[in-house]
Amino acid sequence: MRILLLGSGGREHALAWKMAQSSILEALFIAPGNAGTKMHGTNVNISASNFDEVKTFVVENNINLVVVGPEDPLVNGIADYFEADEQLKDVPVIGPNKEAAQLEGSKDFAKKFMDRHNIPTAKYGTFTKDTLKEGYAFLEKMNPPFVLKADGLAAGKGVLILDNLKEAKKELKNMLADAKFGDASSQVVIEQFLDGIELSCFVITDGDAYKILPEAKDYKRIGEGDKGLNTGGMGAVSPVPFANPTFLDKIKNQVIIPTIKGLKSDGITYKGFIFFGLINVKNEPYVIEYNCRMGDPETEVVIPRLKSDILDLFEGVATNTLSERDVQFDERSASTVMMVSGGYPEAYEKGKQIFGLNAVTESIVFHAGTASDGPAVTTAGGRVLAATSFGKDLETALKKSYASLEKIEFEKAFYRKDIGHDVL
Ligand code: AMP
Ligand code: GLY
Repeated sequence: MRILLLGSGGREHALAWKMAQSSILEALFIAPGNAGTKMHGTNVNISASNFDEVKTFVVENNINLVVVGPEDPLVNGIADYFEADEQLKDVPVIGPNKEAAQLEGSKDFAKKFMDRHNIPTAKYGTFTKDTLKEGYAFLEKMNPPFVLKADGLAAGKGVLILDNLKEAKKELKNMLADAKFGDASSQVVIEQFLDGIELSCFVITDGDAYKILPEAKDYKRIGEGDKGLNTGGMGAVSPVPFANPTFLDKIKNQVIIPTIKGLKSDGITYKGFIFFGLINVKNEPYVIEYNCRMGDPETEVVIPRLKSDILDLFEGVATNTLSERDVQFDERSASTVMMVSGGYPEAYEKGKQIFGLNAVTESIVFHAGTASDGPAVTTAGGRVLAATSFGKDLETALKKSYASLEKIEFEKAFYRKDIGHDVL
C-alpha cells in the first residue's frame, strides 16, 4: 500500500511507526509530519486542511489509502471531498465523513445522539444568543460546578468549569453574545457536572463491525496532582487499573454497542476510529465526549500495544471486511510521559536544540512538536516529545519512561513527575 498520513503530532508519529512495521506497506508519506515521522517515511510539506493540495499529492503519487490523524480535516469534510471527486473516489480515507464527524464537531449533535440511543451521559441543555435568558434560568436550577461547552471545535479550550453562578452566567454571555470562541460558541451546551475518574476508550469500525482497542488514561493538566491549566495531554497509561473486566463490559454494552448501532440506525456511515471520553461515576461509565480520531497522547500507549498489523485493520475498514481481521494486543503495561516546552500551555519558545535522543534505549521516543535543522532536532511546539515504555506492570513501565526522559535535554524542558501515580 502507498499511504498518506495527515497530521504532525505524537499521535501521527506513533501511527507512522506502527505502519512502517507492516509487510504490506510500500511507501509512507506524512503531511506535514515532524522530525520523528521522517524516520519512517517521507514528510511532505502540505497542510492537512488544504484539500486541493492533498488531492494533487494523492493523484501524483498513486496513493491508495489516506489516514487522517487530527479532527479538523474530518470535521471539515475531507472524506466527503474524496468521495465526491472523480479522481479520488476510489481512494479510501481512514476517518469518518463530515456528518459522522459531528460526534466531535458538535457537542449538541453528540448529546442528541446519546439521548436518542440511551447512551449514559450528563443531563444538558443547549442554548443560543436568542435563548440566553433560558440559559440563565437553566443555570439557576443547577448545582455548581457549572459546565459550559462551546458547541463546535475550539482547539480543546471550549469547555469551562465554573464554581459560581454569577461567573457561569457571565461566561455564558461571553460565549453566546460576545463570541468568546468565535463561531464555535454560537451554541453552548450546559451540562450537569459529573464527579469521577476519567478514561479513554477507542474502537476502529468499518461502519458495521468494530474492534475495541486497549483503554488508556491521559493526564490533561500541566501541573502535578492535576493542577493548573489544561493541555493537550501530559502523559498516558494503558491499561487503566480501575477498568476491570466488569467495568469494561459495561462500557461495551452501554456505550460502544449502542453507539455503533445508533450510527447505523441513524443512517450514518462511520469509518475510522471512535474515541470515547468516559468518566467513571460510582462504577458506571458516562460519556463526556466523543472524538472522531485517536487521542493524543493516548495513541502513544494504545498503538504500541497493538500486536496485529495496523494496515490489515485499515484495509478491513476500507473494504468493509473488518469482521474478518484478527486483532491481538500486548498484555504488558505501557506508559508515556510528555516532555513540553517551558511556559506551555501559555507562551513558550521554539527552536531549542534537543540533545540525548540517541541515548534512549529502553523507550520509544515519539516526536510531537519537533523539526529538523540539518542533522539537529529542534523544538517546534508546546508538546515536544513523549517517551513510551513497556513493563510487566505500570510501575516498571513508568520507571523506564522517566529514566529515558532524564537522558533527553533541551532548554526549559518540563515534564510531570506523577503520571500514573493516581492509579498505581
Ligand atoms: P470535553 O472537551 O467535553 O472532553 O471536556 C474537557 C474536559 O472537561 C473533560 O476531559 C473533563 O475533564 C471535563 N468535563 C467535561 N464535561 C464534564 C462534566 N459533565 N462533568 C465533569 N467534568 C467534565
Ligand atoms: N488526549 C485527549 C485528546 O486527544 O483529545
